[in-house]
Amino acid sequence: MTDENKAEEGVQKPRKLQTPPGIHDILPKDHEYHTFIKKVVRHRARQAGFRRISTPILEFTELFDRSIGEDTDIVEKEMYTFEDKGGRSMTLKPEGTAGVVRAYLQHGMKQLPQPVELYYIEPHFRYDRPQKGRYRMFWQFGFEIIGESDPALDVQCIFLTHKIFQDLGIADRFTIQLNNIGSSKSREKYREALVNYYVGKERSLCENCNARLHKNPLRLLDCKEEDCVILAELAPKFEQFRSKEDTEFHTKVKEFLDELGVKYEENEKLVRGLDYYTQTVWEFWDKETGGQKAVGGGGRFDGLVELLGGEPTPAVGFACGMERIILHMKDAGIGVPSKDNVHIFVAQLGDAAKKKALPLIDALRDKGVHTVGALGKGSMKAQLRLADKFNVPYTLIMGITEVREGTIIIRDMSKGQQKHVKMEKVVGEVVKLIGKDNLDTYSPGEISLTKS
Ligand code: HAM
Repeated sequence: MTDENKAEEGVQKPRKLQTPPGIHDILPKDHEYHTFIKKVVRHRARQAGFRRISTPILEFTELFDRSIGEDTDIVEKEMYTFEDKGGRSMTLKPEGTAGVVRAYLQHGMKQLPQPVELYYIEPHFRYDRPQKGRYRMFWQFGFEIIGESDPALDVQCIFLTHKIFQDLGIADRFTIQLNNIGSSKSREKYREALVNYYVGKERSLCENCNARLHKNPLRLLDCKEEDCVILAELAPKFEQFRSKEDTEFHTKVKEFLDELGVKYEENEKLVRGLDYYTQTVWEFWDKETGGQKAVGGGGRFDGLVELLGGEPTPAVGFACGMERIILHMKDAGIGVPSKDNVHIFVAQLGDAAKKKALPLIDALRDKGVHTVGALGKGSMKAQLRLADKFNVPYTLIMGITEVREGTIIIRDMSKGQQKHVKMEKVVGEVVKLIGKDNLDTYSPGEISLTKS
């Protein structure tokens, strides 16, 4: 029956299922990058005393409305929000800081020695227009320091990001954009000044800016519409409203960065797209494309704990986009070590050989030898073809004769040579051939677990 006939008779071909736009599988090759980045992040986090936290992917929408700010792009346009069966508004987390602060409050972390230093490696969701480097589901690693205010902590965050990028071989691809947007008090004064400046000029503003003028005038400063850009150039500058304390804080941040030899560019236009920031803000920009696709960013958020119902508690943190990092690593030609290589392929013929193969495969794997067994029903020729595909250096071959004689054949795949070995000697022989240094000896069972 042709497709047309099928359609006429109402037999529909099932629609080809694909991931939704902007949402991607992570295939094994890219997982090698993810695994490597996670390793570097975990390593640097542990060295600096951070502990890992995972907050749920799904939270009450109110958490993000209150923390990120109702007039931000993220909350206005980009959240995956839906009603659950109980009629509550739920949202897939668009960023990590709000959930971490909620957890800090919910679990009484104020009682712990301060500051509390946490990190996460998690997927996040934003309904943005998908394009290269901008996805609807993306991975971030992020660090948060809650419970202490000191410019040295802000610098520690910036420096940690820099170190991680150095480990990944991409640090020299970015500039660090730095600004101080002041305390909430100075920001309030600045907001008032901005509203006063823009009132009376509404006709020159775009629709978006008109809507935001009274709610979030700071956002008018980074509008890309031509007339709005001109007005923003002439608008009052935050400099005039920065308090003495803000300036001192900022100066110290810069001094500490200098001390560590970290280069930065002061950028008074940098405000970041989330409302919870105070004082220091920064972004890591691609030297070529600038702020369009920052690879990481962060800042101080001294008001957020209080905003979510806690006592006034200072905090600072940052997050970086893992897909963007991977794009940079690939662009710079940086490969990552792969541990997915297979050392040994076990080929067998007949049930008796399969019975012997199963414990042998187990014994090899326990020794740290990456072993794949052809446990299907393929012919010996088909199995050897498969061994070639896995690109293994050695294949173990067992047929009825070998089972009867208690031996096994070790075939050197590159030389095409083979030899018979006694079954009880084969594990030791393989370990010798693969080399102790190449064994994957991590075994959860050997690590001393504690039991209370
Ligand atoms: P953010 O600047 O919104 O900050 O995101 C941090 C990083 O996540 C960005 O620099 C970018 O690399 C990546 N990213 C964001 N959106 C996307 C997307 N649609 N596709 C791919 N990558 C993306 C935050 O999220 C704050 N929570 C950071 C922070 C932590 N501030 C204080 N603590």
